[in-house]
Amino acid sequence: MGKVTVTEHPLIQHKLTLLREASTSSKDFRQLLTEITMLMGYELTRNLPIQDKVIETPMGRTVGKEMAGKKPVIVPVLRAGLGMVDGLLNLIPGARVGHIGLYRDPETLEPVEYYCKLPNEIADREVIIVDPMLATGGSLAAAVNFVKQRGATSVRALCLLAAPEGLEAFQKAHPDVDLYVSCIDEKLDEHAYIVPGLGDAGDRIFGTK
Ligand code: PRP
Ligand code: URA
Repeated sequence: MGKVTVTEHPLIQHKLTLLREASTSSKDFRQLLTEITMLMGYELTRNLPIQDKVIETPMGRTVGKEMAGKKPVIVPVLRAGLGMVDGLLNLIPGARVGHIGLYRDPETLEPVEYYCKLPNEIADREVIIVDPMLATGGSLAAAVNFVKQRGATSVRALCLLAAPEGLEAFQKAHPDVDLYVSCIDEKLDEHAYIVPGLGDAGDRIFGTK
């Protein structure tokens, strides 16, 4: 089974409380989401591969470390996943960014794909899928299917909030994918919204309704 890491750092919890509040503006919501993503990204990137690098400091030669292999690829699930891209790019500025366009059909709750653009040589890259909300888990599972169908072999996922039901469904669908979340919430409501959650992440990021 894929590992689920709940990043319970005090700063993340503090910022998450501010972000959840209904009165938080889109501007502050975006800023908080970026800050939380950076803090979560510290855990997410902990086991990325590194290699030795010989360098000259002003005092002489030493062996340091550098990121090994091809640049990782960050894949936001459109739209709301876009709100987590800058946070990760702040940590991994050389990362590539792919995009997967999905929306959850409000009637069937099934994910519908409308866009996919990924960098080349995806099989040789660490793929990090980002989407703030894991509700039924259908969208994230579909996004992982898409990157696997296009050759990805090493995938991890970063979500802000997850519902227990969705988490279980996702783990069953993709037992090889490690997942990082800042909080596992209580449940889904009758419209498959996360409770207590934060409402519609895409609408809150982009100020739509
Ligand atoms: C939201 C969210 C996830 C999905 C989660 O996107 O960003 O992608 O719902 O739901 P699920 O786990 O039940 O599939 P939405 O479809 O609202 O699209 P948006 O990002 O364009 O707002
Ligand atoms: N999508 C959201 O944006 N919020 C939820 O609570 C569930 C799905």
